[in-house]
Amino acid sequence: MLTHLKDQPADKILALVQAFKDDPRDSKIDLGVGVYKDAEGKTPIMRAIKAAEKQLWEQETTKTYVALAGDPAYGTAMAELVLGNAVPMERVSKAATPGGTGAVRQGFELVQLANPTATVWVSDPTWPNHLTILKHLGMKTTPYRYFDSETCAVDFEGMLADLKGAKEGDVVLLHGCCHNPTGANLNLSQWKDLIALMMDKGLIPMIDIAYQGFGDGLEEDAAATRMVASHVPETIIAASCSKNFGIYRERTGILMTISADASTQPTAQGNLAYLNRQNFSFPPDHGARLVTMILNDPALRKEWEDELEEVREGLLVLRKQLAEELQKATNSDRYGFIAEHRGMFSRLGISPEMVEKLRADHAIYMVGDSRINIAGLNKDSVPILAKAIAAVGG
Ligand code: LMR
Repeated sequence: MLTHLKDQPADKILALVQAFKDDPRDSKIDLGVGVYKDAEGKTPIMRAIKAAEKQLWEQETTKTYVALAGDPAYGTAMAELVLGNAVPMERVSKAATPGGTGAVRQGFELVQLANPTATVWVSDPTWPNHLTILKHLGMKTTPYRYFDSETCAVDFEGMLADLKGAKEGDVVLLHGCCHNPTGANLNLSQWKDLIALMMDKGLIPMIDIAYQGFGDGLEEDAAATRMVASHVPETIIAASCSKNFGIYRERTGILMTISADASTQPTAQGNLAYLNRQNFSFPPDHGARLVTMILNDPALRKEWEDELEEVREGLLVLRKQLAEELQKATNSDRYGFIAEHRGMFSRLGISPEMVEKLRADHAIYMVGDSRINIAGLNKDSVPILAKAIAAVGG
């Protein structure tokens, strides 16, 4: 039987991680996978996480199962973090999942259960794993225009025009903030127009929010998600704690749904628990427990918010510096958008050949579509990157 298996295509982002590891050059710079790195190139354990882990180690008395949808206290804390008080909590269902990817996968499966003929509309481009999961599940997918590679900004008119072609009950996959891979985001007035269109056409938003706190701030980054949830009758939300709590390997995410009214919420909640049971039974608990402790303890929460804010401000400084260095190196303003973009990523808009040349000649690694992880830079590597981009003709 196993001889019938075919080789699967390598994941583009994860293949880069390996290629970077294998590169013997000391000068190499990794701008690939979306993992935060400090100025020394380390991915630190956040101070609040370390403190919560210490407390947990002292206090935890059992490792028995928790609940199929995870600890309800985690669900409540996360619903408040993402949704604030945008919707009454009796309409919200929640299930802890293995990471944000687990939440995305289960969100798609929920769509399949509820409406097997729905098409999922995805931004062009989107996180590549969205597309491969949808393909793996055999779901219908249609891209909508999102990124204008000329202006390196959102092609909002194109986006609306494409989504006008969606049919009632179709799902629109949206990035709540810090769009991956482009770094280009809708402003709140555009979100308003998008909400009007989705309501008019009876479309279901599914929001992937994996970088809350990396763009304009914890509250600001949740604003669009809250606006959608408070207007559209039904919303699906996949949230990740991997990045904003720096707990990548703990696999801590959550799938939430907002039902049209409180009377239909228990069925949605039951379906989320059912999907967990079918896929892996109980979700991982360690990361979720740390997140709950931090969100519910004022001192730990302050420590976490302060550190996240340091990270966010550091990214903005790097963005500004890179835009300036590129302006000098290329003698043009065409990379000015980097300072305007938000989140871990920006797409440079250079050709795949140039991306390859940067890797071969300069040991600089980025995803083939020219997405760079801003957090992979530091003040010394920014000018090196800018000069290298100019040298390859970017
Ligand atoms: C990324 O886009 O680099 C991250 O979301 C990590 C991943 O799993 O791809």
